[in-house]
Amino acid sequence: MKGGVGKTTLSINIADCLSKRYQKKVLLIDIDPQFNSTQCLFKVEQYVEHLKEKKDTITDIFDKNTKINISTVNGANETSSKELKKIKPVKIKENLWSIPGNLELYRLEIAPGEGRESRLKKYLRMNEEKYDIVIIDTPPTPSIWMTSALIASDYYLIPTKADPISLTGIDLLNNIVKEKKDNLDLTIKCIGVVLTITEQQTRVYKSAKKFLSEHHTWSKLLYTKELPKRTELAGKQLDNYILDLQDSNIKTALIGIVDELLKRIGNEEQK
Ligand SMILES: Nc1ncnc2c1ncn2[C@@H]1O[C@H](COP(=O)(O)OP(=O)(O)O)[C@@H](O)[C@H]1O
Ligand SMILES: [Mg+2]
Repeated sequence: MKGGVGKTTLSINIADCLSKRYQKKVLLIDIDPQFNSTQCLFKVEQYVEHLKEKKDTITDIFDKNTKINISTVNGANETSSKELKKIKPVKIKENLWSIPGNLELYRLEIAPGEGRESRLKKYLRMNEEKYDIVIIDTPPTPSIWMTSALIASDYYLIPTKADPISLTGIDLLNNIVKEKKDNLDLTIKCIGVVLTITEQQTRVYKSAKKFLSEHHTWSKLLYTKELPKRTELAGKQLDNYILDLQDSNIKTALIGIVDELLKRIGNEEQK
């Protein structure tokens, strides 16, 4: 429910860590119209070229653009502009693929309920053999994109800053997900809350941590490791994978978060 809490940073670095350290095949989907994770994963020229060549982006998942072709031989038949199964992610590096985002998402008008919110799930189902884990980097506020991500996902991870406004955000988010789960009959589960951009010496940090640790819902979901604030990460767009930094503390933190994520998923799958 809040921008700037580290969703994109965490998405990219969890994806990088899973693919590099665990040799998992990972697909990262950028469903945020602000396409920040795409800006991190792609060089500007590469992305511009990608768009020029009309290669696939997130809009192709949703933009069915049904055209009616009328042929004298076959009569009227519908063709879609892009078949879902033909959508091709970009290989970023060993074990990591991405469906890049697109600013055009802002212009795509999709009426809720027309069924296009399920196309991402359909696409992932068609490709489930190809990847071990799919990570969807979402926009902060409720929208058809967030709904699509919820429909397509088994789990959601909540990054939050340790401040009062962000903590209000996670309660709001929880209620919205609950409502969506109910209305759409989804089985998605929360796989945890990760504190991000933390400054452990501050008073707001300490009180936020206390609040979460004592909370009836969040205490069980709060990760032991958290992502500390580092100027090396602030505002950087490219080549800023945490595992490539010199700083061993933040690397250990990220690895700890990914370990805990895998463990929690493992526990859930055994249930
Ligand atoms: N651990 C961190 N330390 C310092 N800056 C960070 C850290 N994590 C993220 N940032 C910066 O904070 C801003 C918001 O992070 P981002 O991941 O884009 O959040 P969101 O996707 O939730 O909007 C970005 O400028 C990012 O570079
Ligand atoms: Mg983001």
